[in-house]
Amino acid sequence: MRALIIGASGQVGGALAALCVRRKIEVYGTSRKGQGFLYLDLANPGSITAAFEKARPEAVFLCSAMTHVDNCERDPVMAARINAEGSALVAGECRKAGAKLVYFSTEYVFDGKAGPYGEDDPVGPVSVYGRTKLEGERAALELKDALSVRTTVVYGYNPASKNFIMQLINNQRSGAKMRVPSDQFSNPTYAPELAAAVLDLAEKGAAGIYNVVGPDWLSRYEFALKACAAFGFGPGFIEPRLTAELGQAAARPLKAGLKTEKLAAKLGRVLPPAEESLRRIAATIKQYE
Ligand SMILES: NC(=O)c1ccc[n+]([C@@H]2O[C@H](COP(=O)([O-])OP(=O)(O)OC[C@H]3O[C@@H](n4cnc5c(N)ncnc54)[C@H](OP(=O)(O)O)[C@@H]3O)[C@@H](O)[C@H]2O)c1
Repeated sequence: MRALIIGASGQVGGALAALCVRRKIEVYGTSRKGQGFLYLDLANPGSITAAFEKARPEAVFLCSAMTHVDNCERDPVMAARINAEGSALVAGECRKAGAKLVYFSTEYVFDGKAGPYGEDDPVGPVSVYGRTKLEGERAALELKDALSVRTTVVYGYNPASKNFIMQLINNQRSGAKMRVPSDQFSNPTYAPELAAAVLDLAEKGAAGIYNVVGPDWLSRYEFALKACAAFGFGPGFIEPRLTAELGQAAARPLKAGLKTEKLAAKLGRVLPPAEESLRRIAATIKQYE
């Protein structure tokens, strides 16, 4: 399989690229920054065509998106351009190339009133991010054999990322307080395990929607406490808050999270528990101390 990872500079794309290299899969990665990547901007159709011409992919992993949920709310036009229209352009190039498309979707396609959700539950996004990602997912799934992976709260040890766990580590190191929602529930998902499950799904020819998330259904506050326990951090800097107190631009699905029975049936496994993944991060933190 010759793979093209769109957004290989990001957290999920980076984990996937590293895994492809380990599995000796020929892989091209894109970014808007150059630096060893193919240049691709989802807002620039010509750059998408050029990257496909260079990589001639058999499988395309669309990890790029405007991922900052509050920025999407502030700039809905740009969010639609990147997340919805850009994804449709990629799907069009996949159709021309005969390539399998793997799209990264989100639990934010749901309203968060009745989670955790299965793949077939009715959607109802409450934010621009959720709506535009859903449009991107629908464009991807118009393609025969496309796979849409819904995930959430992706974390890992990655100094280039602002994921929840990196924010927690950086706040602890700098002595800053961290306000954490106590009423947002979902399934934290360890990036390297997400990458492994998605690559396995793609290699098995999975198509349609699959939820790929960790097995623990937790509030963000509970997850922060688990991480502190794993890393040996005193939890005093973590301050639980209701989402309504945080003044965020975009609404959040509160009782969200995703079910993984379909994943288990396809792969014969689910992702390891958060404690195990956090222990792996704790070992990495120790290496850098
Ligand atoms: N992280 C999560 O918790 C989470 C949860 C649910 C779903 N997802 C989905 O999973 C995917 C990967 O997320 P992530 O955590 O890896 O995100 P990330 O770390 O924020 O990375 C975003 C990626 O998108 C690229 N990008 C941004 N704007 C772009 C544009 N206009 N054109 C082309 N590329 C652009 C960035 O590349 P450059 O800036 O280098 O160009 C970067 O590679 C996304 O589709 C996201 O919606 C993530």
